[in-house]
Amino acid sequence: MKIGLLTGGGDCPGLNGVIRAAVLRAGHYGDECIGFLDGWRGPLQGDWVALDAADVEDILPTGGTILGTSRTNIATPERIKAVKASLADLGIDALIPIGGEDTLGAASRLAQAGVRCVGVPKTIDNDLSGTDVTFGFTTAVQIAVDAVDRVKTSSASHHRAIVVEVMGRHAGWIAFHVGVATAATATLVPEVPFDVDAVVERVRAQIARRRWAVVVVAEGALPAQAATGGDAQVVDEFGHVAVGGIAAHVAAMIEQRAGVETRSLVLGHVQRGGVPTAYDRVLTTRLGIAAVDALHRDETGVMVAARGDQIATVSLAQATGTLRTVPPELFSAVTSIA
Ligand code: F6P
Repeated sequence: MKIGLLTGGGDCPGLNGVIRAAVLRAGHYGDECIGFLDGWRGPLQGDWVALDAADVEDILPTGGTILGTSRTNIATPERIKAVKASLADLGIDALIPIGGEDTLGAASRLAQAGVRCVGVPKTIDNDLSGTDVTFGFTTAVQIAVDAVDRVKTSSASHHRAIVVEVMGRHAGWIAFHVGVATAATATLVPEVPFDVDAVVERVRAQIARRRWAVVVVAEGALPAQAATGGDAQVVDEFGHVAVGGIAAHVAAMIEQRAGVETRSLVLGHVQRGGVPTAYDRVLTTRLGIAAVDALHRDETGVMVAARGDQIATVSLAQATGTLRTVPPELFSAVTSIA
């Protein structure tokens, strides 16, 4: 079998672990692998590199993706046709697209058009349905927890509040986990609009009593009082509006209303860089192996997924149909003790 791999969407730690495992597993079957460059741009433009064991054996702990990535979208009939033609030219029997809802949504369309596809779920946002967790998430959370732990000691030294913005446009999984793991003063997620006055009062009271306060806010979180999602204008090929800047806004509110000196910082792409956690290395290894095995069972239009202690397959359509967000009741129950 000749297998094409690609990595699409925002990068995250662990992509290379999947590539390594898939290529090494494919070798056991006597398959040939190639890697398409920069997500869907690779098959669209016929841009690829050969991948054999020597190319991948040392990449497990390396951040980023050796194949590059992009947010190129192929979900139009013309582009689906162009990708199919390009795959046929190269004699590709099957694809392993590694990505989030956008990359895998495109894979689902391609599978419906007759291309054999087994996807691998990736996103630091942890917002794909059909899987318990996406790789990259635990690494992003650990990076942010380390940062907040550091910020906390500075907050205590200066008796200031600090607001830390983490990624998560529509799903607040990172903020939720970081807020809980650092016992943050307040945690703000997109799923639960927040009351500015309540946040301000909580910070004021905590600074007065404990001399430090740290607020963790997801980039897509909004005050209950806000009418719209802000004035950001940047939109990618999948129609996602770039968000951000909420930390500075919350910090200004705290300074004005509580009279507490406040700083803000945006962790941004730091959360997507560097070495994956041991958990993500193991998960990506299992997912890469499972993707190749699924192709050899003749599965298509599916995604390999972590389900309990097993790796299962679920339909791509189901996995990309609904975003998995933080249940408000879970959020409220766990953050109620802050
Ligand atoms: O989808 C993953 C993600 O990291 C989001 O959390 C974030 O909003 C977005 O990508 C940032 O995208 P970009 O890398 O294009 O700035």
